[in-house]
Amino acid sequence: MPIRPVLTFPNSLLRKRAEPVKKIDNEIMNLIKDMKDTLTEASGVGLAANQVGVLKRVIVISNSPESDIIAYINPEITNRKGKRTVTEGCLSFPGYSGIVTRSISVSARYMDESGGRVKITADELLSQALEHEIDHLNGILFVDHLREHEKLSAVDPEYRPHNHDINVSIKVQNNQYESEFNKKLYTKIGIDDLKLALDRADILKDVEQAND
Ligand code: NI
Repeated sequence: MPIRPVLTFPNSLLRKRAEPVKKIDNEIMNLIKDMKDTLTEASGVGLAANQVGVLKRVIVISNSPESDIIAYINPEITNRKGKRTVTEGCLSFPGYSGIVTRSISVSARYMDESGGRVKITADELLSQALEHEIDHLNGILFVDHLREHEKLSAVDPEYRPHNHDINVSIKVQNNQYESEFNKKLYTKIGIDDLKLALDRADILKDVEQAND
């Protein structure tokens, strides 16, 4: 299982636009295989090639624990319907989540691993994942979609969206969040830089102590 290290915010490759895949050659097939292995190791929903440092338009999504991970090559959203508010995280922000606005459903087209051209309409998690991962290929991150009054939260089992009276503090969260993600995927420098960058960007939510 060759897993590839996952880049964390604010790595500049996460802000680059990925290039279309012209030919599905061995290099692309190896990339897809490694991305699937990396996503499995991360127990994540989706991964874009930028996140493993490759600027090619390839994403992989695990739509449900039971189904296979699917690779989408040169994916494009062709239509969006409706709006909904969802809690979202990203493997490049390990241990954090935020509330964003996403479509209720999307239509997309892409190329599959055998070069076939596919059109799909997706809702629920797949719709959200397609929007999130295709954003990555355009250098857009989920923190760009944070609702104006919202900031990122450290992932906490008791965390509920839109509940602003949560009984945790950042310090406690830091201890908890260390165990919330697979550290094997990241470098220590990446994790330290992420914490610093989030502090600097002022997008970490100050969670108040509220025991009642
Ligand atoms: Ni992501």
